[in-house]
Amino acid sequence: MNHLDYLIPFAKNCDLEQLKALVSQREGHWEHKGSLEYKEALEADLSSPEQLWSSIEKLIPWKKGPFEFESGTLDAEWRSDFKWNRFKEHLGNLEGKTVLDVGCNNGYFMFEMAKLNPKLVLGIDPIPRCQAQFKLLNKVFKEDALRFELLGVEHCKHFHSMFDLILFMGIIYHHRHPLEQLIDLREALTPGGEIILETIGIPGEESYALFPEDRYAGMKNIYFIPTLSCTVNWMKKAKFINIEVIADTDMTEEEQRSTKWNPENFKTLKDSLDPNDPSKTIEGHPAPRRFLIKGTRKP
Ligand SMILES: C[S@@+](CC[C@H](N)C(=O)[O-])C[C@H]1O[C@@H](n2cnc3c(N)ncnc32)[C@H](O)[C@@H]1O
Repeated sequence: MNHLDYLIPFAKNCDLEQLKALVSQREGHWEHKGSLEYKEALEADLSSPEQLWSSIEKLIPWKKGPFEFESGTLDAEWRSDFKWNRFKEHLGNLEGKTVLDVGCNNGYFMFEMAKLNPKLVLGIDPIPRCQAQFKLLNKVFKEDALRFELLGVEHCKHFHSMFDLILFMGIIYHHRHPLEQLIDLREALTPGGEIILETIGIPGEESYALFPEDRYAGMKNIYFIPTLSCTVNWMKKAKFINIEVIADTDMTEEEQRSTKWNPENFKTLKDSLDPNDPSKTIEGHPAPRRFLIKGTRKP
């Protein structure tokens, strides 16, 4: 049995054979990379607190959290619960719904949404460490509605009118075709389905995007960093309706910082801002804000 068989009920809504080929190719890559530490971490008996925490340590850095275990709290770089609290009231009723989380990292929001009884939450992220972290977490939390695949946003064109809700958070500025992505995601939604877009952005009233030559806030592979009105206009041009700005917030060291499970040698917010002027990045660009916007595919 191919593990994508859970998509058979959705065979009309996805290119199942292409997805199977992509996933098996990528799973092979994970094995090939010889991620021995990951394997050991996942094969351990996680019901023993010692082995659980030793496995967690093997999968450092933990970027998203916190997660509560009987034996303690796994505190990650990000307090993802802050972001969750900003958008959870905007999700509607997820009972029996089908959800896609694009760039889900270790699945923090998937585990939160699992408590709302969805039919399926598919998380995709191309990074093997994220998959290993998700597998470890789900060995402990055992949420049957959750699935993780090593896919990227560029593979979302293989889904058609399938998801009632898509989370698309922290991704769009890393890709060169923001509108193409929004259009692919619109087509992956059921008519009337909703998207939650979250992105870093720059301050400013007008509709424009910064296009840095090199890094932005220390990050590589950066393309367009939009103002809020530019982000809304992208959503409009991608033909979303009922566009609603949920939040426009500062980044804070309370929300993003080093912890035991994301140690100092991994960079965090304070390393990305000018130490003498936090309104600027270390490269001298306007410091990032975070925008959260909701939109609907036309019914
Ligand atoms: C800034 S994090 C955002 C994580 C999460 N969505 C959140 O909002 O907290 C970006 C995530 O995108 C993932 N990623 C990298 N390349 C990607 C791609 N091509 N498609 C989708 N996700 C990607 C990274 O592994 C990382 O987990």
